[in-house]
Amino acid sequence: MDKFYSFLLITLIVTTHWSTPTLTQMLNEPNMQLDPDPEFIGTINNVTFPAGREAILACSVRNLGKNKVGWLRASDQTVLALQGRVVTHNARISVMHEDMHTWKLKISKLRESDRGCYMCQINTSPMKKQVGCIDVQVPPDIINEESSSDLAVQEGEDATLVCKATGNPTPRVTWRREDGEMILLRKPGSRELMRVESFQGPALKLARLERRQMGAYLCIASNDVPPAVSKRVSLSVQFAPMVRAPSQLLGTPLGSDVQLECQVEASPSPVSYWLKGARTSSGFNSNSALETGQPGPEMLLDGPKYSITEKRDGYRGIMLLTVRSFSPSDVGTYHCVSTNSLGRAEGTLRLYEIKLHPGIATINDDQLNFIGGLEESRNAAQTTARITATRQSISWLHISPALVLTTHILCSTPLTSAILRWLSRGLALR
Ligand SMILES: *[C@@H]1O[C@H](CO)[C@@H](O)[C@H](O)[C@H]1NC(C)=O
Repeated sequence: MDKFYSFLLITLIVTTHWSTPTLTQMLNEPNMQLDPDPEFIGTINNVTFPAGREAILACSVRNLGKNKVGWLRASDQTVLALQGRVVTHNARISVMHEDMHTWKLKISKLRESDRGCYMCQINTSPMKKQVGCIDVQVPPDIINEESSSDLAVQEGEDATLVCKATGNPTPRVTWRREDGEMILLRKPGSRELMRVESFQGPALKLARLERRQMGAYLCIASNDVPPAVSKRVSLSVQFAPMVRAPSQLLGTPLGSDVQLECQVEASPSPVSYWLKGARTSSGFNSNSALETGQPGPEMLLDGPKYSITEKRDGYRGIMLLTVRSFSPSDVGTYHCVSTNSLGRAEGTLRLYEIKLHPGIATINDDQLNFIGGLEESRNAAQTTARITATRQSISWLHISPALVLTTHILCSTPLTSAILRWLSRGLALR
């Protein structure tokens, strides 16, 4: 429509106004002088402006005489203005005629579609023209429909985070982790992961995902035109729970509070709980419990007897069970259970009674030796522990005959604290 209109207009101009008088016409007019040819003064400056602002192109001509100056859009030859008059239906376009020689084309509220070159024409024969170009800067924008949204991927699979940005000049896309941690990228053809602070490019490829790569990623699109924009993509790496009990054997004296700990890794977030198994020497087994008519596992609830807490930090968690005022009925097997949509895992811990014999403790210099007993059940052969401790810490612990227990028990904070409590009691008594 616009084009057709302009075509009509050009035709009109060419056939009427723009026709140069022929030599015969000029000779027929007696007063006609041969004016010097019109010519451009200087060149039109190319300009660059952000969208929304205005752009002005100035075309200066000397010796215009009876000729006319027009502005056209170079791409489609649409006539925009003729002399001081706008001839296109575009309210954002205006022309200004200044100091006799200069015709300025002004485009306000610049749009991306205004980008291009504009031609200043003089209707001489042959026609004279000059071109000036407008570049419209556009701040970056992220196309949501063509960019990644939050995604959940199973561990070991691949994921590509995509961020499509537009703008002029073409924006750079930078990826970072929201928490400021390094991005882990798999080197091509390698098992190794390399750590980078940021990644440049619209597609962040993460091959064979590991749980450490879970997190929120930011893609930041920027060019020379403010403001830069960013998008947050949360990547969830999913896997079945994994449970680890750092101390599987816990010995504690009667009357003390003992804490059981399980470390859990799971995504999505698991549902976790504690079970107390039937008190059998062979450990907990729900089938055999049913067959033999023994009591099944008991779900433990937070209350006066048990304190149950869970700390979570991302996909890592710690389950804590405190058994208060340890009594013979608390001896047995405990299970920390963690389940999510991808699976279930449990850790098993055994709680023993440790019998300490204060009478056998001896002190020499800064060292304190004592012998205590470790007892799982009344029938089991009593084991003895020989502990050498300073006033500050237990330096070693030797258990006979169950030497294998040594490490587990050494790692057990509840035991060491119980012994220290007992030691302080013993020392206070003297
Ligand atoms: C303006 O840009 C056009 C197209 O890029 C180019 O041909 C022309 O020489 C430039 N003019 C000036 C004054 O730099």
